[in-house]
Amino acid sequence: MPRLRAEDLTLSYDQRTVATSLGVDIPDHSFTVIIGPNACGKSTLLKALARMLKPRSGQVYLDGAAIASYRSREVARRLGLLPQSSTAPGGITVGDLVARGRYPHQRLLKQWSAEDEAAVTEALRQTGVLELADRPVDDLSGGQRQRVWLSMVLAQQTSILLLDEPTTYLDIAHQVEVLDLCAELHARKKNTVVAVLHDLNQACRYATHLIVMRAGGTVAAEGDPATVVTADLIEDVFGLPCRIIDDPETGTPLVVPAAPRRHLPDAPRDDVPTAAAMAETS
Ligand SMILES: Nc1ncnc2c1ncn2[C@@H]1O[C@H](COP(=O)(O)OP(=O)(O)OP(=O)(O)O)[C@@H](O)[C@H]1O
Ligand SMILES: [Mg+2]
Repeated sequence: MPRLRAEDLTLSYDQRTVATSLGVDIPDHSFTVIIGPNACGKSTLLKALARMLKPRSGQVYLDGAAIASYRSREVARRLGLLPQSSTAPGGITVGDLVARGRYPHQRLLKQWSAEDEAAVTEALRQTGVLELADRPVDDLSGGQRQRVWLSMVLAQQTSILLLDEPTTYLDIAHQVEVLDLCAELHARKKNTVVAVLHDLNQACRYATHLIVMRAGGTVAAEGDPATVVTADLIEDVFGLPCRIIDDPETGTPLVVPAAPRRHLPDAPRDDVPTAAAMAETS
């Protein structure tokens, strides 16, 4: 049995049921990526896996025991969650926010250790926000803030990381940086990383295990992206006609949306002068 597993979950908010009979196994030491259309229940599943949402029925298992049976500090030592959106306490600095990631490691008497300090500095460095340590979080750009929240989860130094859209707000270079960092945490430190991503091509590049969810909170397919991702599946799940080609850089599936007819260049028409022809006659 993998370290993290969800069995037969019913997930709901008050009256709204998001998923029924939902089961997932997160392979140990994998870089698992979850994709799926808006509102299909990806964040809800991640919250359940992190014990932030109590399933209506079914069970999440962590290291062989029901996650509900652990003390919160015990869960937080094993598993860290980057939520899709969070609000920082007003006026807090970057350094102080990231330091909160150390809470599960602090003991009652010895409050703040050199180890805590080192973990915070390392986490700030990994996401490239070390030089922002003294700035108030409120003053940062969206992308800077996103990397600060990720730092806080990294400072927690858990062997399982659940990241809900870690690349939102980031420019393309920072997206790649964050995904490379996740890949490194998975490959070199043997961590288990679970990330929700919307970019299907990044998902295919980085995932060692892909979980494709569909509307209604069910798993449409899972496994190696190279075998899982087909044009039929993408059209079925996202309603998007597309072609799948090989990523020229990595050989992984590259999803190319079909061009709507209105975006195709019109055939040249004889009765309309081209810009070049008009320039010539003037
Ligand atoms: N706190 C909440 N209270 C009530 N309903 C909620 C709550 N959070 C989410 N929902 C609903 O649950 C469903 C699943 O939401 P969820 O956030 O899990 O989707 P998602 O797959 O993460 O979507 P996105 O790609 O937009 O982030 C949606 O219909 C949403 O409106
Ligand atoms: Mg979400």
